[in-house]
Amino acid sequence: MQEINVGLIGGGFMGKAHSLAYAAMPMFFWPAPAIPVRRIVAEADADLAAVAAKRFGFERSTADWREIVEDPDVHVVDIATPNNLHAEAAIAAAQAGKHIICEKPLARTSQEAKAMYEAAKGAGIVHMVAFNYRRTPAVALAKKYIEEGAIGRILSFRGTYLQDWSADPDSPLSWRFQKSIAGSGALGDIATHVIDMARYLVGEVASVNAIMNTWIADRPVQAEGADLLGTSKNSGGPRAEVDVDDEVMTMLKFADGAVGSVEATRNAYGRNNFITLEIHGTEGSIHFNYERRDELQVCFASDGSDRRGFRTVYTGPAHPYGDALWPIPALGIGYGETKIIEAHDFIKAIVEGGTVSPNFADGYQIALIEDAIAASAASGSWVDVPSIDG
Ligand SMILES: NC(=O)c1ccc[n+]([C@@H]2O[C@H](COP(=O)([O-])OP(=O)(O)OC[C@H]3O[C@@H](n4cnc5c(N)ncnc54)[C@H](O)[C@@H]3O)[C@@H](O)[C@H]2O)c1
Repeated sequence: MQEINVGLIGGGFMGKAHSLAYAAMPMFFWPAPAIPVRRIVAEADADLAAVAAKRFGFERSTADWREIVEDPDVHVVDIATPNNLHAEAAIAAAQAGKHIICEKPLARTSQEAKAMYEAAKGAGIVHMVAFNYRRTPAVALAKKYIEEGAIGRILSFRGTYLQDWSADPDSPLSWRFQKSIAGSGALGDIATHVIDMARYLVGEVASVNAIMNTWIADRPVQAEGADLLGTSKNSGGPRAEVDVDDEVMTMLKFADGAVGSVEATRNAYGRNNFITLEIHGTEGSIHFNYERRDELQVCFASDGSDRRGFRTVYTGPAHPYGDALWPIPALGIGYGETKIIEAHDFIKAIVEGGTVSPNFADGYQIALIEDAIAASAASGSWVDVPSIDG
């Protein structure tokens, strides 16, 4: 069976998730399209890189990500660093002819995203941006129902991504709170996941009308490099300014006439990974809550009015990706499974010479939607979203 050699850049939270996915993908998807081989991992320094190699099962390690890009033995460059390295690494990898999977958001700015898209498009490589939540089986099932017309024409979409890991003002100022590294706050970090699913399920976003806020103006500077997502408290230490948003809310108009909203915050006490999607159509409704991610709630207007209401479908073998995952519905599908499916679809596209979605075109289009949201929040008015095709 063919082997695909992977070079991973960044051994933090996403480095862990991607490594797990490469190891587990052939255990779930068999026959696998190819066996991913964890060849080399780069980290910020040699010690961190050596630990990442041992922990995540890579053969070699390096403190210089360029070694991965230049290695003729590497087929895939996997970019799992903070956002400030995405563009430089991806453009270098595309120029070296490597297939690329890059974590979301694709870049800090739409200018960077455009340069990445153009470099990848001209290189004849498979490129993917890791908006993995759309690969939750229940979300893919929602897509199937919508495509089958089971809820009719889509009228409205309501999406949220609510977390509370930074609600405490003493939660540290990691890279996620620094515009020079992250590009934006809740907007790029979490709202983009919901925007990806809105485009996937409903269609292109034509215009937006948004509010953005920074509730906590300064935080104690985090000593460590990797973002510990609020678990490392530095209270009492020196504080520095937060120059990104904590919260974003936007109304949406879709190109086909549907309307919608997206809300995202990392300051919602009691909410952990509260991604919700509610979609209303002319023939029914769909509701999804990631905190109950085995379940899809559906209501069909065709049900008699004496029994009409939301019913729960537990995803399992009969549903998208079901053959590869667990043999009984409701055994429990986790975050790891979304990354395993993502790795499968990416490697399959490489082996078959195809494309995969979401890719750098999607990542760039989402960056343009982010720009429109920021411009709308600044002006207080509706802003049209341009298309990457001009
Ligand atoms: N798809 C998702 O659900 C999801 C979830 C979390 C994060 N992300 C994205 O993944 C990316 C990484 O986030 P994370 O949560 O893993 O961050 P993290 O802080 O946990 O890890 C980032 C790692 O990159 C390393 N790093 C920094 N500079 C480096 C360099 N020059 N060379 C090699 N390694 C370097 C850091 O030392 C750290 O270990 C971000 O773009 C983020 O937005 C996506």
